[in-house]
Amino acid sequence: MSTLVETKELTRYYGNTIALESLNLEIPQGAVYGFIGPNGAGKTTTMRIMTTLLAPSSGQAWIAGSSVMREPRAVRRLVGFMPDFFGVYDNMRAWEYLDFFAASYQVPADRRATIIDELLELVDLRHKRDAYVMGLSRGMKQRLSLARTMVHDPLLLILDEPASGLDPRARVELRELLKELRSLNKTIMISSHILTELAEMCTHIGIIERGKLLASGEVNAIMRSLHAHHIFEVHVLGDPAAAAAVARQFPGIIDVRTQPEALPPMLHIDYQGDDQGISALLTHLVTGGVAVTHFAGQTSDLEDIFLKVTNQAVPL
Ligand SMILES: Nc1ncnc2c1ncn2[C@@H]1O[C@H](COP(=O)(O)OP(=O)(O)OP(=O)(O)O)[C@@H](O)[C@H]1O
Ligand SMILES: [Mg+2]
Repeated sequence: MSTLVETKELTRYYGNTIALESLNLEIPQGAVYGFIGPNGAGKTTTMRIMTTLLAPSSGQAWIAGSSVMREPRAVRRLVGFMPDFFGVYDNMRAWEYLDFFAASYQVPADRRATIIDELLELVDLRHKRDAYVMGLSRGMKQRLSLARTMVHDPLLLILDEPASGLDPRARVELRELLKELRSLNKTIMISSHILTELAEMCTHIGIIERGKLLASGEVNAIMRSLHAHHIFEVHVLGDPAAAAAVARQFPGIIDVRTQPEALPPMLHIDYQGDDQGISALLTHLVTGGVAVTHFAGQTSDLEDIFLKVTNQAVPL
C-alpha cells in the first residue's frame, strides 16, 4: 500500500497550550483509519490542519504528495471534510446545499444535477431532496454532510466524529455507508472516542492523547505490539488443580483460576504473550499431561487497547 497521508513533526499551539506535539502520522491508500482519543486529545486540530483550515505552528503534512501548507488548492481537491458540527443554512433545500458546495468546488453546472442525485441516493436521502436542510433530523443532517464531502469526488474523506449524536440504527447505517465508500476506493480517516464502533470497520488505528500519537498502525499489529492480555478458557479431563499447576509453570502466565465445580472442569488462564507463545502454551499443557478438550481465547477489543495505551502514557 502506498502512503496517502503523511505528517512530519506536526505541532500546534493555542497560546501557551500545546494541542499537537510533533505528530508523525501515516495513512496508507485505501485504509479506513480510526483516529481515536479522548476529549481535547487533538483530533479536530489535526483534521483541520490536514484540510487546510488551520495552520500548524510547525511541521509539515502531505496528501498524495501535495504539501498541505504550500499547495492548499491541490489538497482541497483531494480531500472531503465532514466537520463535527453541521452549521446553519437557513432557507436552503437539501439539493441546493449540495449544489452550493459543488459549485464552490467548481464542479461544472451541467454535471451537478446528476452528481447530486447520485449522492442523495447513496446516503438514502432522495425523498428529502426538496426539504429544507434545517428541518432535517440530526441523523439526516449527518448523512447530508457526508454527501457534501463527496461532491468533488475526493480521494480522501476526513470525517470528524460522524457518528456522534446518532441513534443505534443510524450508526449501523453509517457503518454500512462507510463500507460502501471504501469499496469505491476512498481512503477514510474517521475520528471517534467510541472505540467499539470503529472496531469492525477500521483497517488501521491511531491513538492520540494530549496531542501525542501513542500508537498507530494496523489494528492487529497494534494489538500484538501491546502484548494484549489473553484470557483462555480451557476445558480438561481429570483434576483441574493439577492442570492449573502445569499451566503456572509456563513463562508469561499472569493468573490461573480453576472452576472444579464446572462441567466439564474448567480453567481460566490469563496469559501475556504473542501468537507463538500461545501455541507454545498449548503444547506445554498437552506435553505436561493435561488432557485438553477445549482451548479458546478471548482477545482484547479496541476499548481495552485504548485504556492500556493511555494508562501507560499517563499513569493514574
Ligand atoms: N480555538 C481554540 N482556542 C484555544 N484552544 C483550543 C482551540 N481549539 C482547540 N483548543 C485546544 O486544543 C486541544 C485539542 O483540541 P481538539 O479540539 O483538537 O481536541 P479533540 O480531540 O477534537 O477533542 P473532542 O473529542 O472533544 O472533539 C484542547 O486542549 C483544546 O482546548
Ligand atoms: Mg474534536
